[in-house]
Amino acid sequence: MIERFKNHKIAVVMGGLSAEREVSLKTGAGVLAALQESGYDAVGLDWTKGTSLATLLAGASAGVVWNALHGTYGEDGAVQGLCACLGLPCTGSGILASALAMDKIASKRIFESHSIPTPRWRTLPGAGAGPADGSDALDALADWDVPLVVKPADEGSSVGVSIVDDRDQLATAVALARTFHGPVLVEDYIAGTEIFVGILDGAVLGSVEVRPATRFYDYEAKYLRNDTQYLLPPELPADVLASAEAHGLAAYQALGCAGHSRPDLRIDRDGRAWVLEVNTLPGMTATSLLPKIAKRAGMSYAELCERILASAS
Ligand SMILES: Nc1ncnc2c1ncn2[C@@H]1O[C@H](COP(=O)(O)OP(=O)(O)O)[C@@H](O)[C@H]1O
Ligand SMILES: [Mg+2]
Repeated sequence: MIERFKNHKIAVVMGGLSAEREVSLKTGAGVLAALQESGYDAVGLDWTKGTSLATLLAGASAGVVWNALHGTYGEDGAVQGLCACLGLPCTGSGILASALAMDKIASKRIFESHSIPTPRWRTLPGAGAGPADGSDALDALADWDVPLVVKPADEGSSVGVSIVDDRDQLATAVALARTFHGPVLVEDYIAGTEIFVGILDGAVLGSVEVRPATRFYDYEAKYLRNDTQYLLPPELPADVLASAEAHGLAAYQALGCAGHSRPDLRIDRDGRAWVLEVNTLPGMTATSLLPKIAKRAGMSYAELCERILASAS
């Protein structure tokens, strides 16, 4: 048991206000049970719309926060900022790293300044700033070959992401991305495989390859279908995997992440790795990808939850 938190009330904050609320409730339930079984004085706090998280934390006499939220407010630095103001240690990355990782454009600027490979990109005006029907896309991307990817700059769960194979689909893809807030991000499409790298306390735990039955790892493949394949370890040559994991770790370090994270990378047909993003609050149910990676590295789910608790600052 971690001495520092032995006599503290641990608040597992879950639910939250984002679209990923249901996933977060599952993460929170798993983590809460694991911490309690390990003997910690842990309580679950379901943060719902219309309630004050500060009031919930005070009501529970929380001494430390195990952040089981996902998406907006939980993952973007807001909750991390609240905890800092309340003087409560919180698990995972801090305010700045969380905010940078949530913003795909800010992340790419940081990656490039650290020479971390990320797909070539361009921004188009977002909702309100560009035509809602995407009619500017053909001209704005006249010099850009398909296939390419269009996505909102600060969403998650693959919402609003389109792979464009034909120039006729450009306007529709941009129009879709413009239904979300923030600028529209256009990227080279990286054909090949996709992996997630599991990181804990600045070290690579391992990786998983994702093989969706759909065209890409879209919302359906992530949450609704059961035919997505997860390969542990990824079926990649050892040197390709090692280089991809090194780029994933470099991305985590460049953003200033702490505790646990799960960078998302594409590996092209020549074995080169490209960092898409870093997920700073990945799913943490017992069967989520990071716990699976940890298990293969010899770390139980309970131990992983405890190690993440130990990272709280
Ligand atoms: N440049 C790209 N090349 C190939 N596939 C991509 C690219 N960008 C995104 N994708 C596909 O779309 C999915 C979601 O995109 P991502 O940038 O990871 O955003 P999200 O935050 O929604 O997960 C990825 O998991 C991948 O399958
Ligand atoms: Mg992703």
